[in-house]
Amino acid sequence: MKNIIAFAGSNSKNSINKDLVTYASTLVENATINILDLNDFELPLYGIDLEHEQGIPENAHKFLNLIKESDGILLSLAEHNGAYSTVFKNLFDWLTRIEGKMFYNKPMLLMATSPGGRGGLSVLEIAKGRFPFHDSNIVEVFSLPFFGNNFADGKITNEDFNGQLKNATEQFNKQI
Ligand SMILES: Cc1cc2nc3c(=O)[nH]c(=O)nc-3n(C[C@H](O)[C@H](O)[C@H](O)COP(=O)(O)O)c2cc1C
Repeated sequence: MKNIIAFAGSNSKNSINKDLVTYASTLVENATINILDLNDFELPLYGIDLEHEQGIPENAHKFLNLIKESDGILLSLAEHNGAYSTVFKNLFDWLTRIEGKMFYNKPMLLMATSPGGRGGLSVLEIAKGRFPFHDSNIVEVFSLPFFGNNFADGKITNEDFNGQLKNATEQFNKQI
């Protein structure tokens, strides 16, 4: 069995990106899915002075090890002001202080959703441009716009978007 980690780039208790990544995880075959919540990996706000004074927090090491030991990553990014949410950027910054190549070339299905019509396209563009510097292996990218209209009862209700996600997870399945 493959070992997949799935998480949202959000710390919202009602994260729609966590809903999406959880649904996507049900489409992955022959794998044990570990759904992570960034609230369980609390980290201080990154600062170079803090790092010099206190070192790198244990939770950053824990999270990085989960990536390292996984066979693939399902990640759905929340978009805040056209970019990463603060909690995700903070985690990203801490992780890169331990290991620049922090994605370890693990196959990744990169997603985003938002209540609006762009479905997190801006943050996806940022991630697609940046993650390759950190040894990412982005197999597929999927965006779900208008979350409130297209998702209910734990799954995507719109057939076209559901088909797109199924195709994306199929490609992901082939890579893990
Ligand atoms: C500070 C802030 C900025 C936001 N900026 C954007 C944005 O630029 N684009 C967008 O589509 N949604 C934006 N939103 C709405 C989020 O997409 C929405 O809150 C969504 O639920 C976030 O994902 P999450 O539920 O997984 O945390 C913003 C929300 C907040 C709180």
